Amino acid sequence: MCGIVGVVGKPARDIILNGLTNLEYRGYDSAGIYLNDLNGNEYLTKAVGRISNLKEKLTPDEQGLVGIGHTRWATHGKPTVDNAHPHFDETKRFYLVHNGVIENYAELKEKYLQGVKFHSNTDTEVVVQLISKIAREKNLDGFSAFKEALKLVKGSYAFLLVDDTEPEHVFIAKNKSPMMLGLGDGFNIIASDAISVLDQTKTFVDLQDGDVGDITKDSYTIETVDGKKVERKPHVLDIDPNAASKGTYEFYMLKEIDEQPSVMRKISQTYFDENDDVKVDPKIIDSISKADRIYIYAAGTSYHAGLVGKTMLEHYTGIPTEVGLASEAGYHFPMMSKNPFFIFLTQSGETADSRVVLKEVNKRNIPSLTITNVEGSTLSREADYTMLLEAGPEIAVASTKAYTAQIAVQAVLAKALGEALNKAEAKDWNLKHDLAIAAEGMQQLVDSKESLKEIADKYLIKSRNAFYIGRGIDYAVALEGALKLKEVSYIQTEGFAAAELKHGTISLIEKDTPVIALINDPATADLTRGNIQEVVSRGANVVTIAGKDFAREGDNVVLPEINYYMSALLTVVPAQLLAYYASKDKGLDVDKPRNLAKSVTVE
Ligand code: AGP
Repeated sequence: MCGIVGVVGKPARDIILNGLTNLEYRGYDSAGIYLNDLNGNEYLTKAVGRISNLKEKLTPDEQGLVGIGHTRWATHGKPTVDNAHPHFDETKRFYLVHNGVIENYAELKEKYLQGVKFHSNTDTEVVVQLISKIAREKNLDGFSAFKEALKLVKGSYAFLLVDDTEPEHVFIAKNKSPMMLGLGDGFNIIASDAISVLDQTKTFVDLQDGDVGDITKDSYTIETVDGKKVERKPHVLDIDPNAASKGTYEFYMLKEIDEQPSVMRKISQTYFDENDDVKVDPKIIDSISKADRIYIYAAGTSYHAGLVGKTMLEHYTGIPTEVGLASEAGYHFPMMSKNPFFIFLTQSGETADSRVVLKEVNKRNIPSLTITNVEGSTLSREADYTMLLEAGPEIAVASTKAYTAQIAVQAVLAKALGEALNKAEAKDWNLKHDLAIAAEGMQQLVDSKESLKEIADKYLIKSRNAFYIGRGIDYAVALEGALKLKEVSYIQTEGFAAAELKHGTISLIEKDTPVIALINDPATADLTRGNIQEVVSRGANVVTIAGKDFAREGDNVVLPEINYYMSALLTVVPAQLLAYYASKDKGLDVDKPRNLAKSVTVE
């Protein structure tokens, strides 16, 4: 999950730096840029840390009409200047940036690159040295050498390559890692995602796995590694460039938390028609209604959204539903029912762990649906069907509006499927009303965000650990609340089924341990109050987030009333805000937590 940007045909430096800044959420250990002024001058500058460090290192004369840039999330080799991209070969003819993982880099190094002087310990440098060796030994031009090298390379990649003997070209190659080709007037641009370069163009070419390309300022040729031409048509992307900006917010995370009410309304507009009937592609409903079991696979926050989706799908459709971690199922595939149906939940649509499962699902000819925020993403293209989250670009590494959007879109699917199966619960369910209630409740909660800041400052920011506890859907939200808090504030936080704590983990509760208790489950609200007493009697500082019907004197947050199956949409909002304030008030970079990246495109 690194970010790459390439430009050919116009002053490239600032476009690349701006694109990399927009891509910094994908990884920010180190960065680098190669520029060529097509006048015999070339420049290579790299820096550890953020793009701002790279900008500071660049001198005014470093300009170019062709350039490639990279912001790195380290997979092989520590974040150092030498390991930063672009990588170059020992003759300094080729310059390469890469997003992905080369699985056979060690064998390639061993077999083809004996005696070559390496300047880094990255897998990427092996590839650029290999290209150079092939070009010299077979006396090939850069593009031909690139294609020959790619026949030997195994793994995931989005490559941008410049051969400084013909610098008016940028050569590209895509396999499993995201890459978009943008078409401009007198220039072309390549980036990890379209949003990062929307200020340059809205016309893009979707590249497929296995594509290799030769890009100039006014042309693009796409081929297979065997040189067979392939047709890739351009299309105009309808995304508002402002949607991907912070506006007046200090951090994207708070902006995206605040956007959740409008995302609920957008989902309502998208998935209900003028008669207020739910509107889902009949082909999806027809396919999934044949299922005797639904399998939901995802990672991280999306997995937590799947846990909530399971309760909805089982309640409103009667189809048994299981939820699994994509990273486990990829190599330990679950036992299949007679008529399985797979759902992939993924904000980015590029998560490698989920892609591994989808490849196996396709191999077994099992029908699949991807619910994602990115139209045209890999998991969307490779599944049979897609439903979009309509959440707008989510930039903060910590997922918030995509999580609630995933729950809302799963509710839409449960409603439409339940109706098709003639289930009374679904037919009687006024989901459009529930979405409006959710939007209204979310608005109330984000409007009173200051109270969460006080709680975070009082109970969390000085703690080294914390717990979320809940039962039923609240347990699923406890897992998500814990992930939010730990990933942005670095406070070790565990989400627990409230009654489970006493079976061992309660030994960790000591004086002032923060325990955030979620009480929005009708069946267990009173029992959870008992679990709260168990931790209070051991010295915990308890913060209670309770639904209106279960609230008691002294509760820290009271949630507006909502249908239990939709309750996660509200219960999660205080948890998101606690995480935001804990991180911000600890002086951390809320949007780009250490060690993380927004889209995990490696296994
Ligand atoms: C969310 O806060 C995390 N950053 C992370 O767990 C994320 O949800 C996970 O990597 C899955 O990403 P996806 O939804 O794009 O597949």
